Amino acid sequence: MYRIKSQRIVLAAVAAVAGAMLCSCSSVYNRMTSDQAKGRLEINVKPFGETSEGQQVRLYTLRNANGLIADVMTYGAIVVTLKTPDRNGKMGDIVLGYDNLQDYIRNSPYFGAIVGRYGNRIGQGKFTLDGVEYKLAVNNGENHLHGGIKGFDKVVWSDEPVWRADAVGVKLSYLSKDGEEGYPGNLNATVIYLLTNNNELRIEYEATTDKATPVNLTHHGYFNLTGGQRDILDHVLALNADKFTPVDKGLIPTGELLPVAGTPMDFTRSTAIGARIGNDFEQLKFGGGYDHNWVLNKGGRSMIAAARVYEPTTGRVMEIRTTEPGIQFYSGNFLDGTITGKGGTVYKHRWGLCLETQHYPDSPNKPNFPSTILRPGQNYETTTIYRFSAK
Ligand code: BGC
Repeated sequence: MYRIKSQRIVLAAVAAVAGAMLCSCSSVYNRMTSDQAKGRLEINVKPFGETSEGQQVRLYTLRNANGLIADVMTYGAIVVTLKTPDRNGKMGDIVLGYDNLQDYIRNSPYFGAIVGRYGNRIGQGKFTLDGVEYKLAVNNGENHLHGGIKGFDKVVWSDEPVWRADAVGVKLSYLSKDGEEGYPGNLNATVIYLLTNNNELRIEYEATTDKATPVNLTHHGYFNLTGGQRDILDHVLALNADKFTPVDKGLIPTGELLPVAGTPMDFTRSTAIGARIGNDFEQLKFGGGYDHNWVLNKGGRSMIAAARVYEPTTGRVMEIRTTEPGIQFYSGNFLDGTITGKGGTVYKHRWGLCLETQHYPDSPNKPNFPSTILRPGQNYETTTIYRFSAK
C-alpha cells in the first residue's frame, strides 16, 4: 500500500502551528483548527486485483477529517465501502457490495457503480437521432439497460487523486469509443468522487463527445443505513417530487408525468418504504415494488434537494441534492438471497435501496422529456451530493 500525502496540506498545517506560537488571536486559532482538520484528510491507494484481460485495478481509500471513509475502485468506478457514524458515533458500512474484485466481475447488479453511457432503460434498445436510427445492445428483455452488456460499470477507469481545500477524492476517466454498445461518438467521461469534511460524498460528472449522443450518467449505490443488518422496508423516505413517470410492464415510461398525490408513489411526506409497497397498485406490480423515476420539483436547472432517507434504529440520515431533473428509486426488488456479499452477508429481498439521480428513462425516445443529447462542443456537467448525518 502506498500513501499520497498532499505537501500543500502538510505545509499549511506547519504554517498554522508556527503562527499559533507567535500569536494567540482568534483568527490564527480558527485557521489552525481548520488546517489541522485538513491534515487529517487522507488518500490511500492499493492494488485491488486484475481483470481477466490483465488490467490492474486500484482501490482508493478516502478519509475525511471526521473519520468517514469511502473506498472507490477503478473497475466500474465502484464505491466499495462507505463508512458513516450512527447516532452513537459507531461507524458502519452503509453500502452493499463484495469484499473482492472477482465477485464484482462475476455477478453484480451494478453494486456501487457508475452506470453509463445511459443509466436506466432505452425502449427496444433503439432511438433515432438527427434522422439516423441507432441500435444498442439489448440486455434487459427487449430493452437496453444501464449502458448495455459491457457498460461503464464493467470497464477499468484511469485514475488520479484529487485534493481540495476541504475534501479528498479520486478523478476517474474513461473513453467510450464510437460504436461501443451501439452508441455514436467517442465520449470522454470523467467522474470525480469527493469525500468532504461536511460529511458528503460529492459526485461530479463531466463528458464531451465528437458526435451527438445520448448521455445519462448516474451512481448505482445500494444503500442500507442499518449497516446491512436487515432489509430497507423500515427506512423512512422523502422525495421532493409531486410527479413520477409511470411505466409499462417492461419498465419503459409511457411518456406521461402523473401526480403522486393519492398513490403509494407519494413520498412528499416522509414515509416508511414498506408502508405501501404491497398495495394493490398497478405500477408497483410492474416494478415488483418501487422501481420508478420521480420528477424532481424544479429539477434540472440548479442544485436542489431531491431525497432524504432516515433509518430509525441507527438514526442515520442521508440527504441527496442534485442538478439532475429526476431520481430513480429502486427498492432492491430483484435481490432475492442468491447473492452473498461483504462479510458473508446474504442480500435478501430488498436488502438495499438505490436512489439514482438522472434524466428520465427512455428520454431519447420521448421528445417531451428533458433532452439527454450531448453534441460536439457542449460540456455535459452534473453534480450529485449525498450528505450523511445521524439524529
Ligand atoms: C433498475 C432496476 C434494475 C436494477 C439493476 C435499477 O436501476 O431500475 O430495474 O433491476 O437497476 O440492478
